[in-house]
Amino acid sequence: MDQSYKFWDRIAERYAKQPINDEDSYQKKLAITQQYLAPSMNVLEFGCGTGSTALLHAPHVKHYLGIDISPKMIEISQSKLSQSNLNNIDFEVTTLDNLNAAKETYDAILGLSILHLLEDRNKAIEKVYELLKPGGVFVSNTACLGDSMGYFRYIAPIGKFFGLIPLVKVFTRSQLETSLETVGFSIERRWVPESSKLVYFIVARKPMD
Ligand SMILES: C[S@@+](CC[C@H](N)C(=O)[O-])C[C@H]1O[C@@H](n2cnc3c(N)ncnc32)[C@H](O)[C@@H]1O
Repeated sequence: MDQSYKFWDRIAERYAKQPINDEDSYQKKLAITQQYLAPSMNVLEFGCGTGSTALLHAPHVKHYLGIDISPKMIEISQSKLSQSNLNNIDFEVTTLDNLNAAKETYDAILGLSILHLLEDRNKAIEKVYELLKPGGVFVSNTACLGDSMGYFRYIAPIGKFFGLIPLVKVFTRSQLETSLETVGFSIERRWVPESSKLVYFIVARKPMD
């Protein structure tokens, strides 16, 4: 069993109170994402955290499922949902690996600030590809530390050992693109925010059959 939920459970309340650190970039990512959403769509977000982004996108789609490994994060998401008037969102404690969903279920899948936190991003990307309908899109926002902070790969295990940071994988933007293209995605949008060069925002599409 993946124990990383313990780290996220521990920081969930604090995470929920943190202000967005770059509001302009966040708004731009929301706007780009919504260009790819439509009222008929079935959407999955994995690693949804406290559900804030889910609540903003859900009014634009038919159904939105937010999943997260941390029960505490999902508890906070549920509490925010109960204060909204939305009835097309579900939140669930689970991972991509354990998600009970048939192949080609989703029109769009979002993975925001998550791929660099997974033991095996390639396995996650394969699963996303499998879960998407032909023509579906994968929207991701990933810290690509390998381009300018490659040394972090030596620090990360120490920080993780002391419980200061979660598991963090170090890879470059180009390695992330290769992971996506290897399974068959074609990359439609790439954006590195001016204010944070570590972040790589990508929209990738699964081809039509
Ligand atoms: C940095 S936070 C990002 C949260 C949210 N997506 C955002 O952009 O604010 C990472 C989230 O991924 C979740 N997480 C970590 N590993 C996961 C896994 N294997 N499966 C699902 N969620 C995971 C954590 O519990 C946490 O809520």
